[in-house]
Amino acid sequence: QTTPDLKDKKVVITAGPTYEPLDPVRFIGNHSTGKMGFDIAVEAASRGAGVVLITGPTSLRITHPAVKVVHVTTANEMYQQCHKFFSSADIVIGAAAVADYRPKVVADQKIKKNDEEFVIALEKNPDILASLGAVKSHQFLVGFALETENEIEYAKSKLKKKNLDLIVLNSLNDKGAGFGKPTNKVTFIDKDFNVFPQELKSKEAVAKDIIDQIVKSYAK
Ligand code: PMT
Repeated sequence: QTTPDLKDKKVVITAGPTYEPLDPVRFIGNHSTGKMGFDIAVEAASRGAGVVLITGPTSLRITHPAVKVVHVTTANEMYQQCHKFFSSADIVIGAAAVADYRPKVVADQKIKKNDEEFVIALEKNPDILASLGAVKSHQFLVGFALETENEIEYAKSKLKKKNLDLIVLNSLNDKGAGFGKPTNKVTFIDKDFNVFPQELKSKEAVAKDIIDQIVKSYAK
């Protein structure tokens, strides 16, 4: 029996990768499958929340009466949808792997392979969580950090820079953690920089721990 400890709460969750188009057939993307974010959405809904799940391209599907799924492709689209649902949200969880850069020019037609070398100019995408952190009022804002080195230090700096209340760090140095896998190994870092390392678990179990940690911090 699950406790309805998120009853009457509105939770906005991002999941999956973003695809940044280069021409009508190509894009820049990453290895996120969306699973981590989808598992958090199911867990939040099962604990009584009304959930908006804003997801980049994924093969995953959810049919839960309390989960509204919004499909987006690019970081800019995800940014717009997050801001649309932000004012009515109590908790926002950013599990998406948002592309930091997009091609500066999107070609109308398929790019031909005429040259030996092909250079793509990129421009910065908006940082979605940082933009929400800058305008938040009552919302509890949770970010992820996916790192490959100086993990704790980088995660703490993201927590601060994006004005988050909690950050969930996963490192590609941990076996079974990160993209694509059915498991994850995370470390929670709260606003006061307390560090709580967790065991390697299924993503469903990690989702449960994340909601538990949010409920604990949120009650404070
Ligand atoms: O989808 P899966 O295959 O299950 O994999 C799960 C995951 C590895 C994608 C997930 O656990 C995870 O770590 N998601 C965040 C990945 C990421 O892009 O991390 P980051 O350290 O680059 O970004 C930090 C935070 O800022 C993240 O919450 C991210 O959503 C957010 N961000 C980043 C860039 C940007 N332009 N806007 C953002 O809001």
